[in-house]
Amino acid sequence: MSAPAPMEFIRDDEIFVRMTRTERWQHLLLVASFTVLLATGLPVLFGYGGGHAWRGVLHRLAALALIGDFGWHVVFDFLTERGRRDLRDMRPRGRDLRDVLAHFRLRGPRPEFGRFGVAEKLEYWSFLWGSALMIATGLLMWFPGLSLRSFPLALHQTFIIIHGFEAVLALLAILLWHMYTVHLKPGVFPMSRVWLDGRITGADMKRFHPLEYRRIWEGRERLAGELLASEAVRTSSARPGTPDAPANPDRPSSVAGDDSAAASDGPKGPNETE
Ligand code: HEM
Repeated sequence: MSAPAPMEFIRDDEIFVRMTRTERWQHLLLVASFTVLLATGLPVLFGYGGGHAWRGVLHRLAALALIGDFGWHVVFDFLTERGRRDLRDMRPRGRDLRDVLAHFRLRGPRPEFGRFGVAEKLEYWSFLWGSALMIATGLLMWFPGLSLRSFPLALHQTFIIIHGFEAVLALLAILLWHMYTVHLKPGVFPMSRVWLDGRITGADMKRFHPLEYRRIWEGRERLAGELLASEAVRTSSARPGTPDAPANPDRPSSVAGDDSAAASDGPKGPNETE
């Protein structure tokens, strides 16, 4: 007799939610405002200042959109369960440093990542402090009277330099780092669709987030084991002749509703990647 096929707790084509609708809207607003800010700010930095009167107005309107998006994101992070979980998963940990060393083949085998890898964490925290810096320096440039009343002229001029340099740094980070790690890397090229539909397949999770994949797999495996054990107890205590026995002993007592959450079929809709 051949051995039973091993249970498949995550199918390759199963769909998981990696970015919720709210997160996708926040990201879209960031992409739009950041693009306009670059297009209307960089010409000033490279000596084509002034330009059309609308340039400055557009820069300020996009700045308001970025400030709104940033505020929305911070509130979402602290006030919603999903946001708090994102923050927890983004927290730097000791193993991140070990992963960096392993990544450059300095120590141990190639690292495996969970929901967020080191590159994603670095990018996220750079986005947060970079946006805060651009907002603070931008507001001080927008209201120079306030800035000059509060700080010496040399410091005000430093804010302008920081604003310009950080803009170039952010542009390079997006073009070289973000585009490569999210869209252009092998297995994803030419583009990840997560920012559009929020979905990731079981196969991609296995490849790019193996620790998260394993955690979900083991959770389902444990659940299936518990269900089978409780089912075994129930059937053995409900034999024919005992008060709990079903009217027809040939009919298996059903746990289908519970089982379907754990077995290979998986839930019908996309799952949170939890
Ligand atoms: C990440 C987003 C941003 C980028 C990439 C960006 C880029 C730039 C650049 C390159 C300059 C020219 C700097 C120079 O004169 O040397 C500039 C100027 C300026 N920025 Fe931004 N900026 C951003 C966000 C903001 C924000 C959030 C505000 C306001 C809250 C702001 C307000 C200003 C103002 C008032 C100027 C002065 C020139 C003008 O009137 O357009 N910027 N920005």
